[in-house]
Amino acid sequence: MGSSLPERQLHDRVVLVTGAGSGIGRAVAGLFLSEGARVVAFDRSPGSLSELSGLYPDAVVSVVGDVRDPGAHDEAVAAAIDCFGGLDVLVGNAGVFDGSVALEDMDAPTLRAGFAEILEVNVLGYLLAARAAAPQLRERRGSMVFTVSNAGFHAGSGGGVIYTASKHAVVGVVRQLAHEMAPDVRVNGVAPGGTITGLRVADALAGLAGRTLQFGDRADSESRLEAVTPLRLAAEPEDHAALYLLLAGDRAPAVTGEVIASDGGLGVRGLTYERRGEDGGGNA
Ligand SMILES: NC(=O)c1ccc[n+]([C@@H]2O[C@H](COP(=O)([O-])OP(=O)(O)OC[C@H]3O[C@@H](n4cnc5c(N)ncnc54)[C@H](O)[C@@H]3O)[C@@H](O)[C@H]2O)c1
Repeated sequence: MGSSLPERQLHDRVVLVTGAGSGIGRAVAGLFLSEGARVVAFDRSPGSLSELSGLYPDAVVSVVGDVRDPGAHDEAVAAAIDCFGGLDVLVGNAGVFDGSVALEDMDAPTLRAGFAEILEVNVLGYLLAARAAAPQLRERRGSMVFTVSNAGFHAGSGGGVIYTASKHAVVGVVRQLAHEMAPDVRVNGVAPGGTITGLRVADALAGLAGRTLQFGDRADSESRLEAVTPLRLAAEPEDHAALYLLLAGDRAPAVTGEVIASDGGLGVRGLTYERRGEDGGGNA
């Protein structure tokens, strides 16, 4: 019966979140904490983690490191065991962007460097986290949730070819790990659409693309996202967090190998922008 479920969905669960310092990872960590979790917050930016650990001093442990470093993941899992007694959930989320740079705008050395940096952070970073967390998650029948993107399924979704390839690869990571980790661990993903964050462009491509996803100011980003999204939504990080909670907790026990889109309808639009009753006329 639903009434037998604990009120707080992650009561006493221990969760490791990569990229917990800002944006979507920060929102997920915050919701999980409010649902009773204890969180190992992993990020390469120490400043961003101090805000979270200041708010929840007894329930958050910070680990500063780079997701490309296998030793940093071992440290994060060891922190979960030492401070909270084990690990139940991995949220792989830390990522970098390619600034929407097109293939023909990169010379070969820039392409090679951008590919190495983005694939290592966005894909290898998830695999290293999963590998480090796997023994604990198997033992405690836990789950993994990875941040994908609408660029994991669609072209022209905001990313250039390197970012789009990296997020398509994450879909493969979710499916293959769901297969490998069954029956002990469920592995799923959430695919946000354009979201108001400070997502960074990879160092190798920053000279071509600028430093962050938002090229203008916040209002400019919001109006651009609202213009292209069927739900007319400029998503905030918090808008996606409930899906991570659903996949991480006990309420979707039959779901594994799936990626849930949270993209304001980008994935279903097809050719027509206009809708009935809006300026520009109805659908054809
Ligand atoms: N913002 C969007 O529109 C959007 C859309 C779809 C998917 N995503 C994905 O969401 C995830 C989170 O991004 P965000 O938009 O919240 O951006 P963000 O920059 O606010 O958060 C990313 C966090 O990851 C950390 N990080 C980056 N590289 C790291 C590394 N090598 N080692 C350790 N930590 C590192 C950053 O310091 C940052 O705190 C990424 O995987 C991104 O690809 C973002």
